[in-house]
Amino acid sequence: MCGIVGYVGGRPALDVVVGGLARLEYRGYDSAGVAVLADGKLATAKRAGKLANLRAALEEEPPPAGTLGMGHTRWATHGPPNDRNAHPHVDCTGSVAVIHNGIIENFAELRAELEEGGHGLESDTDTEAVAHLLEDELKSGGGLADAMRRVCRRLEGAFTLVAVHSGDPDLVVGARRNSPLVVGVGDGENFLASDVAAFIAHTRDAIELGQDQVVELRAAGVTVTDFEGRPAEVKEYHVDWDVSAAEKGGYDYFMLKEIAEQPRAVADTLLGRIGSDGRLHLDEMRISDRELREVDKIIIVACGTSYHAGLIAKYAIEHWAGLPCEVELASEFRYRDPILSPSTLVIAISQSGETMDALMAVRHAREQKAKLLGICNVNGSTLPRECDGVLYTHAGPEIAVASTKAFLTQLVAVYLIALYLAQVRGTKWGDEVFAMVQLLERMPEKVDKVLETMEPVRELARSLAGEHCVLFLGRHVGFPVALEGALKLKELAYMHAEGFAAGELKHGPIALIEENLPVVVVVPPRARDVLHDKIVSNIQEIRARGARTIVIAEEGDESVEPYADTLISVPPVPTLLQPLVTTVPLQVFACELATAKGHDVDQPRNLAKSVTVE
Ligand code: G6P
Repeated sequence: MCGIVGYVGGRPALDVVVGGLARLEYRGYDSAGVAVLADGKLATAKRAGKLANLRAALEEEPPPAGTLGMGHTRWATHGPPNDRNAHPHVDCTGSVAVIHNGIIENFAELRAELEEGGHGLESDTDTEAVAHLLEDELKSGGGLADAMRRVCRRLEGAFTLVAVHSGDPDLVVGARRNSPLVVGVGDGENFLASDVAAFIAHTRDAIELGQDQVVELRAAGVTVTDFEGRPAEVKEYHVDWDVSAAEKGGYDYFMLKEIAEQPRAVADTLLGRIGSDGRLHLDEMRISDRELREVDKIIIVACGTSYHAGLIAKYAIEHWAGLPCEVELASEFRYRDPILSPSTLVIAISQSGETMDALMAVRHAREQKAKLLGICNVNGSTLPRECDGVLYTHAGPEIAVASTKAFLTQLVAVYLIALYLAQVRGTKWGDEVFAMVQLLERMPEKVDKVLETMEPVRELARSLAGEHCVLFLGRHVGFPVALEGALKLKELAYMHAEGFAAGELKHGPIALIEENLPVVVVVPPRARDVLHDKIVSNIQEIRARGARTIVIAEEGDESVEPYADTLISVPPVPTLLQPLVTTVPLQVFACELATAKGHDVDQPRNLAKSVTVE
């Protein structure tokens, strides 16, 4: 997946495009490039590495000033991330330039055909084939948009394409299938981007593009058609956050800012969910209460951190709504034979709403006639459009690659869905649901309290920067928290980190324990006495074998003190809600440890925020 920006209007295009790319670097940062049209001529520049390399090259050799341009920041799929494979790619005549996000699956055939036809392809990418296909199509007349439509009809796979042609110096053409592309509507200027963050500094009015659509962007207006050229209906919307939400606001890293924003994000996600009748309401619930009463099984699909939110959802749904719930990695889901029927509710969780594995799982579930409910943080993204119902998290834009505030808001969302199901199905009384929502409403202040006490965690993290391995243990909802703690450390600090169910320890992982190995243990509230006592025994077992124990437990839990080399206290909360407070120290721990090792926590190596390929 990559980041794409396009612009046409009255300003210097290069400034708008490079400014936009800076906000999209989270989508990939292997290489970056731009194309500008000035005086009917096409100029391109591209560099391997982060955007800073391209900026330096542009300063050294500025391209001619123009008011139409496009830019790309890459996460490599075809070919290594070098200058040659960076986008834009141009045709043989040097008059057409193309940028692309996604994978063109039939590119080998297309490439062979082009080479046979005498085209010289210079890169290893699938994208370059499109530039040459456009070159051929332009010869048959009709202009760039027509050529794009004809080319798109030949492409297989997932793609967002944006192209410019020196023969039409007021036109940027975009196309999308299975990859994101939004239009920003300005006054005498228009924008195209993978994400509104790229143009939010200029306009908050956006148009959501549907699947298989081509957009013609001119300074004077925007036209959208399908791949056959038929006019398409478009949905305009207003972005409800502003540019400051997409900036660092005085923090060294977006991740630090996003961790600090969690109390607000949790509170915002809870806002307006209780109606005047005292009942819970979800945003766009196009599944009726009758249909929800008929649901006999829930399957949750998600990836990465969102998958961990799904694991926690299982406990809440089974406990409150009394429904069997399976949780599956979205990338595995459609490759087995999941048993789905019209009475299955599939819940897809995705911060971006663009993760291809999650979208493909949803499409598979749709074919099997299951009902679909999405949990998503990005308005206008693909997932909400493909589901029957959606519950938006209101985390605001999450820029750091490793998810923090979006995860906490996903937890709020899954609790709300579990309670909503309980309400509709009558497995909890209305007052019980209301009481639980009131407890949820107190969570922002608890998260805030955790954040205020993080200095010892930061100190601990710095002291462990030389370690090679950290283990994480938890039981019940503490188990997914342990998995999330380990994932954060892998993503950011590039350390070996594993999360285990504490009960599984004795069945294998205990062999890993050696003198001074740091082991983080997430302890459930004392009110869950059986669970609590079991994990206290687990702590003793690992300590007896030399582990250095880092224990996260609720304030006042004296029973764990004798066995904790480091004790991290969190406010007492109900067991099911505890991940909202126990995850936070693990985010801070990973962020600080990675920073101590000198890593860029916003852009960890090899990763990207939104993975729009399978
Ligand atoms: C990528 C990111 C992870 C994220 C996962 C799922 O792998 O690096 O941080 O959890 O995608 O993303 P989603 O947008 O679907 O929640």
